[in-house]
Amino acid sequence: MERVHEVAFRTPAPTFPGKEDELFLKLESLQRLGAFKIRGAWNRMSQLPEEERRRGVATISSGNHGLAVAWSARRLGLRCVVHVPTGAAGPKVEAIRAQGAELMEMPREDLVRAHTDELWRSWPQTFIHPFAHPHVIAGQGTIGWELAEDLPGIRTVLVPVGGGGLSSGIAIAVKARIPEAKVFGVQAAGAATLPIVFQTKAAYRVEDPQTIADGIRIGIILPAMAELLLRNLDGCLVVSDAEIEEAMRRLALEAKIIAEPAGAAAFAAWMGHRQELEPPVAVIVSGGNVDPALLARTLQPAAPPVPRPGAAGPPGRSATLDRMTRALEMAKQARDRGMDVKETRKALKQARAAFEAGDYPTAMHLADRIIEQCREPTKSR
Ligand SMILES: Cc1ncc(COP(=O)(O)O)c(C=O)c1O
Repeated sequence: MERVHEVAFRTPAPTFPGKEDELFLKLESLQRLGAFKIRGAWNRMSQLPEEERRRGVATISSGNHGLAVAWSARRLGLRCVVHVPTGAAGPKVEAIRAQGAELMEMPREDLVRAHTDELWRSWPQTFIHPFAHPHVIAGQGTIGWELAEDLPGIRTVLVPVGGGGLSSGIAIAVKARIPEAKVFGVQAAGAATLPIVFQTKAAYRVEDPQTIADGIRIGIILPAMAELLLRNLDGCLVVSDAEIEEAMRRLALEAKIIAEPAGAAAFAAWMGHRQELEPPVAVIVSGGNVDPALLARTLQPAAPPVPRPGAAGPPGRSATLDRMTRALEMAKQARDRGMDVKETRKALKQARAAFEAGDYPTAMHLADRIIEQCREPTKSR
């Protein structure tokens, strides 16, 4: 705990406005570097023996973990290599570069194999695992210690899950102090590995994970992590990308908190499952490093659903398919008009993945957005 607090802040856990005594937000979005990752990275790296420091460090991450490792390496005076997927770009990658780390691009399949086949064991540098090393897990677990100290009456904790380091660390720490508390993992529908892990009691990998929540998109639960999560979590909840966007919007407008998509996932799960969860509930707002364009989009009021005669409740398969076909046509027309459709193509791919996963509300939401973006601009007079 003390080691982690050399660099990490003890983050606040205020109540959600209007839900006093029922819902608390643990704000790792206000953590140094904008996410919880500094806790685990520092706990691991500051304990490296001299021989391992001399080799420099390496990791895999185009996001918050990469930034935390690059920052810690700079502070400790270590050489740092961060492996990112080929073509990775955006504010998070730029922030890693700005810390002086060397970025090495690798095809995504190779990065997946680096995890599943532990290829990093043959790398010359000391590998700082994003989620599976005991020191990383213990570092993330300090969030659980703080929660248990600050909110001893808490009964339920919701934690976003990528590789599982954050959730296992928090679950171990919280339950050591509050044995009756339940801890649930939260995942995005397009990258949901945990439901299968719980069903099969084994490791699992999603072939082509798709979600706006980049922090929890990895789609891999390694065997050792499956064991740890099965032992320490009480279950898992799955949310759609549309629910995550709505959660980001409510956090911003009602609680004045900026969360990145992965950081809003646990709050989205509370929104959807509130009735089933024993209060008081703490949701982990795990990070706030959001692309400004995405944040701006989520702050727009959600488009009112197109009224469909006789339709009620969530959209069905055929209505979603219709809307996706329309979105595809609109995208083709926009391309023929000369519009840059790179982002649209990505959104179409996400919509298809959501559709295939049976997540029709997300597919519908994405299709609606594509239609909106691809409308022919009204000619100004
Ligand atoms: C903001 C955010 N939330 C949650 C996670 C998931 O953490 P873990 O991979 O330890 O499950 C990550 C991982 O990068 C993250 O960046």
